[in-house]
Amino acid sequence: MSGRRRTLLKVIVLGDSGVGKTSLMNQYVHNKFSQQYKATIGADFVTKELQIDDKLVTLQIWDTAGQERFQSLGVAFYRGADCCVLVYDVNVMRSFDSLENWHDEFLKQANPADPKSFPFILLGNKIDVDGGNSRVVSEKKAKEWCAAKGNIPYFETSAKEDYNVDPAFFCIAKAALANE
Ligand code: GTP
Ligand code: MG
Repeated sequence: MSGRRRTLLKVIVLGDSGVGKTSLMNQYVHNKFSQQYKATIGADFVTKELQIDDKLVTLQIWDTAGQERFQSLGVAFYRGADCCVLVYDVNVMRSFDSLENWHDEFLKQANPADPKSFPFILLGNKIDVDGGNSRVVSEKKAKEWCAAKGNIPYFETSAKEDYNVDPAFFCIAKAALANE
């Protein structure tokens, strides 16, 4: 196979409605942020090319709907995923409690060959809100959850202030490439 072949990496972003999945992707790919909430319907993807070591990869990032009534994704959608990004809002406990469900749902639908080693990444978003005074999930608690799930990498982010977004997606790309 040609060494110049571009590698396509499929990444799926999951998490409760309103946690900022679309905003994180918009910040990462378009360097844009909007205060206005517009619910994602179904699923859509954006792509971003980046260099990892000497490899040029194309990240295909799938944004999904957090709202249940907009979820109509079949098993085929999850198949072939190289990495799963879970997102919660550090200011909303329910979004953290839902992670377990999103994690299990992904494994059930994607059915990866080796579920134990499949790469997940967790993002705790909206750390900018109220200068951090309204957060209800501590970094420690999030990291404990990640440790229990087999050492999932964890990033605290702000799509609004473009904090940690690039490093998070670089880690996602590397994890996806390693799994490819
Ligand atoms: P669904 O499409 O319904 O699943 O929601 P989503 O996870 O895509 O959330 P979305 O990106 O649409 O963001 C929801 C709201 O939160 C919007 O009003 C955003 O402007 C806001 N938001 C997203 N990220 C941040 C952030 O880091 N900080 C702040 N302050 N607001 C954010
Ligand atoms: Mg969305």
